[in-house]
Amino acid sequence: MCGIVGFVGNEQAAPILLDGLARLEYRGYDSAGIAVVSQNRELQVKKAKGRLQVLSDIIQGGKSVEGTLGIGHTRWATHGEPNDVNAHPHLSGDGKIAVVHNGIIENYVELRDFLVSQGYEFKSETDTEVVTQLLAYYYAECGDIFETVFKVIRRVEGAYALGIICADCPDRFIAARKDAPLLIGHGEGCNFIASDVTAIIKHTRDISYMDDGEVAVITADGVQVYNSMEQPIEKEHSYIDWDVSAAEKGGYAHFMLKEIMEQPEAIRKTAFSRIRDNRIFFEDLKIDEAYIKNIDKIFIIACGSSYHVGVVGKYNLERMLRKPVEVCLASEFRYSNPLVDEKSLVIVISQSGETLDTMAALREAKSLGAHILSIVNVVGSSIARESDDVLYTWAGPEIAVATTKAYSTQLVLLNMLGLYFGDILGTVSAKEYSEIIDELLRLPAKMEQMLENTDDIKYYASAYFNHSSVFFIGRNLDYAMGLEGSLKLKEISYIHSEAYASGELKHGTISLIEDGTLVIALGTYAPLFDKAMSNVVEVQARGADVLALTTDSHAAEMRKTVENVMTVPQSHTIFQPSLGVVPLQLFAYYVALMRGCDIDKPRNLAKSVTVE
Ligand code: F6R
Repeated sequence: MCGIVGFVGNEQAAPILLDGLARLEYRGYDSAGIAVVSQNRELQVKKAKGRLQVLSDIIQGGKSVEGTLGIGHTRWATHGEPNDVNAHPHLSGDGKIAVVHNGIIENYVELRDFLVSQGYEFKSETDTEVVTQLLAYYYAECGDIFETVFKVIRRVEGAYALGIICADCPDRFIAARKDAPLLIGHGEGCNFIASDVTAIIKHTRDISYMDDGEVAVITADGVQVYNSMEQPIEKEHSYIDWDVSAAEKGGYAHFMLKEIMEQPEAIRKTAFSRIRDNRIFFEDLKIDEAYIKNIDKIFIIACGSSYHVGVVGKYNLERMLRKPVEVCLASEFRYSNPLVDEKSLVIVISQSGETLDTMAALREAKSLGAHILSIVNVVGSSIARESDDVLYTWAGPEIAVATTKAYSTQLVLLNMLGLYFGDILGTVSAKEYSEIIDELLRLPAKMEQMLENTDDIKYYASAYFNHSSVFFIGRNLDYAMGLEGSLKLKEISYIHSEAYASGELKHGTISLIEDGTLVIALGTYAPLFDKAMSNVVEVQARGADVLALTTDSHAAEMRKTVENVMTVPQSHTIFQPSLGVVPLQLFAYYVALMRGCDIDKPRNLAKSVTVE
């Protein structure tokens, strides 16, 4: 999704902006641009469709654009196709104001009509140009850029993170935020804005997160933030302590592979730091025992892979808590007039903490009185800040668009939460509690053992990478895990793929199974292994090529029927999907590699989806 970076200081801005944008590339984009103010108060805007390298070549790595203040942007098209004109920054008709924007201006048609009636002309199809021209309109009236920004944000509806520069004010730029991520980086003799911290961590670790309605005036010497009433406010500072190398490839061909390999360590960091003497401690949780005992229903709300974590969680939490758990797609939940109240617990799951649909669903649930407990990876993100309780996954920065280590850490943390509540509710026996903890402590090592040798998976990828249609089938936790395996495959390899609950196949979908259809049969859920086998036979009889996944202990049985079998170590039932998903991630990775796909930045996708 769009990425913003802004810089003011004593060094040349353009190379710093290009470097920041390169670090935001992972968010997904289709064009890029920068605007820099020169010494003679001239706004230079350079932008280009395609990879950042195209822009960098045009401006000789930044050398041909002179000035120490500027803003940059990577665009992920919403309004208007990806091209040079629609790329940001947008320059006002009078050449005085340049704007970068992340988000969507919902009333842009109305504003555009108004501006056209005032004689303003538009070059692009974007909603952002409306903001630029509206700024020019008010600036022409009042001549004060700060006043102008407040006038504009009072007229625009929708979501925005804005970086604004004005040729008349070469020492400062302005940032504004509502429902789209934006943070300020405090440097020495220089200051920054960025959509996320990866863009500027090289320069500073001293960060403040902007909140909705706030406007910041940023110069080389200081930052002043104002609330929506235009009153100056003091912002809290956060210190970012993760290592820069965590956001680099470290010898791996792709971030995705690196992040798959980092999963055991990410689980250790997330889980082990919360276990002492074989007991779970969630010291930061504010939710009290009385509330937990009074919960009559749990909702899990998320999108994409985070939603898939919720599907696994539904099976595990219902089993551990004996309370109903509903898993909701955030984009559906927010418009469904949900039956949430003060006896509901709403668990929100998000890697980025910025997904707009998830954020909107969170607000809806909060307004209905539910306690919001979020599981988030990005510290200080919007979802984390608006929740009543946050449990962070300590997965570190996840750069590949397709999530892997965030999924795995979310899953472990959700299971731990279930166990923690089960202990309080008395629905998990002491014996099962300690069995689950023991198994959790063994989980990273089992994963490491699997990751040591991936030759089998590479081989199966080479055997099947040419298939055009794939079905992942499984029951119960295998079905839930299949949803994620299927999403991984389709999003990075562009092969059509679906996950089906095996028992449901015969109600329609089995008609799609024909000679050569690839079926990935998941049989790691021990209680239903025999039923999984019946489904394998069923699809084989229709001509399917079957690749199976099962546990070491069921491998021999599976091999009696299926030639190609991937195996994972046996674990406690609730953790079996944490192991099972790893070969599915690797299978997707190697298939995409063999198909020559852009693995870390799949087409049409963005890492952080900050539009509806
Ligand atoms: C798929 C993927 C997405 C995200 C989804 C939610 O690999 O990464 O499906 O899971 O966009 O994002 P977060 O978790 O940031 O809210």
